[in-house]
Amino acid sequence: SIQKVERSYQRYREIISTLPKEKGWIAEDMCLYEGFWYQPMHGLAGVMFAQEHFQARPDDVFLISTPKSGTTWLKAIIFGIMKRTCYTNSTHPLLTTNPHDCVPFFEFELFKEPPVADVDNLPSPRIFATHIPYSSLPKPILDSGCKIVYVCRDPKDVLISMWYFLAKVRSMELPPLSLEEAVDLFSRGIFGFGPFWDNVQGYWKASLECPKRIFFITYEEMKRDTFVKVKRLAEFLGQPFSMEEERERVVEEIIELCSFGKLRNLEVNKNGSRNPDFKNDAFFRKGEVGDWRNHLTPQMVERLDQITNEKLPSIF
Ligand code: A3P
Repeated sequence: SIQKVERSYQRYREIISTLPKEKGWIAEDMCLYEGFWYQPMHGLAGVMFAQEHFQARPDDVFLISTPKSGTTWLKAIIFGIMKRTCYTNSTHPLLTTNPHDCVPFFEFELFKEPPVADVDNLPSPRIFATHIPYSSLPKPILDSGCKIVYVCRDPKDVLISMWYFLAKVRSMELPPLSLEEAVDLFSRGIFGFGPFWDNVQGYWKASLECPKRIFFITYEEMKRDTFVKVKRLAEFLGQPFSMEEERERVVEEIIELCSFGKLRNLEVNKNGSRNPDFKNDAFFRKGEVGDWRNHLTPQMVERLDQITNEKLPSIF
């Protein structure tokens, strides 16, 4: 009932008020919950609600990511793969709908207070996205055996991408966050759903144990080898491309539809705005590997690489 839901969120607010806090990237303090940092007004209560109430189905598909790691792109790709028989090229929802409205986030949308959709009544197969760390995932997701695609990215590019993103969406009244401050926060682990490295590590280990359940991929691999990776993804999702589809170039069509150049130039993504504070164009900046080279000093690179080499030696 509505009252029960309201009481739950009241309880989450009380818990949140007792959590350790640190100055964050924008005005709001970030807080530490189950070993990871969150912006309390942006998703933490939703995470808590999902932990208590989400009912998983074995055929659910999850796209899980670290923020700014290619979530928008992978949402489009997974949606494109899974719904490819539902639409013709001219009626495809990705042409008129931002990928974030095709595949909703748990914490920012579905379970944000108040929960917006009747998640239990969505038709199968449901496709969800989240940034929740592995150790905090709602238990039914792991118990149900549903499929998880996890995408992450070179932390140096993640940091630059987030720095630009927040500069675009932050309130004009706030003083800007310098890159030095951003590097310091990020290196200390103070980053949404971070420490970044711990978030990656959780899924990396789990994917080694359960490769059939967790498909682990990096933004860089997706960029380098899009065709092969999209085919692998389709196989992993239980919807491999048939010989006939390959002959008809269905794989290429999905890749083209979801490409940076195509998506960013669609009217919905250029001028649309699904969020009251910013336009959808904020989701599409440069879309390249290695832009950090244009911004980070050698000292910053050294500090970040040292943590990466220590915590994720075999990934980046
Ligand atoms: P840059 O800021 O480096 O350009 P997320 O979607 O997880 O928020 O990640 C955002 C990053 O993905 C941004 O990186 C953005 O430009 C890039 N991106 C968005 N759509 C993309 C696409 N279709 N292909 C490749 N990169 C994309």
